Amino acid sequence: MSDTTKTATLTVDGQSYELPIHSPTAGPDVIDIRKLYGQADIFTYDPGFTSTASCDSTITFIDGDKGELLHRGYPIDQLAGKSHYLEVCYLLLYGELPTAEQLEDFEQRVTMHTMLHEQMKNFFSGFRRDAHPMAIMVGVVGAMSAFYHDSTDISDPWQREVASIRLIAKMPTIAAWAYKYSIGQPMVYPRNDCDYATNFLRMCFSVPAEDYHPDPILSRAMDRIFTLHADHEQNASTSTVRLASSSGANPFACIAAGIACLWGPAHGGANQACLEMLREIGTPNRIPEYIERAKDRDDPFRLMGFGHRVYKNFDPRAKVMKESADEVLELLGVDNNPTLQVAKELERVALEDPYFAEKKLYPNVDFYSGIILDAMGFPTSMFTPIFALSRTVGWISQWKEMIGDPQNKIGRPRQLYLGETARDYIDIENR
Ligand code: CMC
Repeated sequence: MSDTTKTATLTVDGQSYELPIHSPTAGPDVIDIRKLYGQADIFTYDPGFTSTASCDSTITFIDGDKGELLHRGYPIDQLAGKSHYLEVCYLLLYGELPTAEQLEDFEQRVTMHTMLHEQMKNFFSGFRRDAHPMAIMVGVVGAMSAFYHDSTDISDPWQREVASIRLIAKMPTIAAWAYKYSIGQPMVYPRNDCDYATNFLRMCFSVPAEDYHPDPILSRAMDRIFTLHADHEQNASTSTVRLASSSGANPFACIAAGIACLWGPAHGGANQACLEMLREIGTPNRIPEYIERAKDRDDPFRLMGFGHRVYKNFDPRAKVMKESADEVLELLGVDNNPTLQVAKELERVALEDPYFAEKKLYPNVDFYSGIILDAMGFPTSMFTPIFALSRTVGWISQWKEMIGDPQNKIGRPRQLYLGETARDYIDIENR
């Protein structure tokens, strides 16, 4: 935590309290209210944490007004353009870009952990075939605590390291097997001679009767999707992982909690919801009707893939994802498909509409990622699992940072209680 000389003064009922202000390396100053309750017997109120920093961190920085996203200081467009997912994983986990030797060693360690304990296959078959793959992922990742006892002791740095590598390595296998199970095909084992993205595509799209060799443009696009989703500072699922882990829960349980949170349509589930919305709109001539619905305060409908809690100018990930979408669609020769036509027209109409401009609502990363994944052949139900596997490294990096922080305390928010005050129990016959 930075040393501070600046303070803020809070006056309550004529009594003043000096609150320290911390200056970050980038971003707005932060008023430290940790001692406020002890000193003034008062809480702060901030549902949705719109004005609250829940931790200090050195991993990811976002400037929502500038549309800037940095991982360990490196801009996301440079990482997406020049680096690749496993190198970004190394950067997020260890703080610096690896040397060639460190990268080779890291990639080797991940590659050697991609297989799942064979008995975990039985776990998959316990689910109904029509189970959403996110339901399977929450269950199977949570179940890893029952299979990998030797990496659940969070007080041991070595076990934390092994758990981290296991999660990054096995998540593609779990996501691909959830998909294979849902379509009734045999699960495909990982292959060590494929890179991370190609391996995932192969586990999803090859069958024992026929291998699958993705075009390098598709592998690159897949890798970019992973890279662009790798971390995003204290978003809902990351904060969930931190909160779960603040109680000392094991890493597999904490990541399962993160997956559950990511599932919701306001967060990771938006990519599935977005494509389903585009299909529901169906043809460009129905767009005005949906735009009007999105603007109607009495209608709960929102344009999926638009808006962001932090980005109020543009989402820098969306910019890169849009380029990738153009590349993939051209390669696959599907740049004229109806969903894409609706997407392009919707983007144009919404960006020209004063409602969206005034509220600073721009297409976010999920607007374009769904289009790419759909063109690649993934069903919409796989979009959020792919987000989950990409975000795993972010969750783990934040989890490791938190466990290593001596100031780490169990997370325990307080509340503004508006219920009944104490009253006497009434026997049932007298109610
Ligand atoms: N369509 C129509 N109106 C919207 C939308 C939208 N997509 N998003 C926000 N608004 C309006 C909202 O109704 C509100 O209007 P008013 O001021 O009249 O009450 C105003 O814009 C501010 O919205 P908010 O809900 O207070 O903003 P938030 O920061 O709480 O929500 C959000 C951010 C991402 C949950 C929201 O924009 C949304 O629901 N978007 C659609 C879902 C989506 O695409 N989510 C993916 C986010 S990116 C991936 C990720 O990080 O998970």
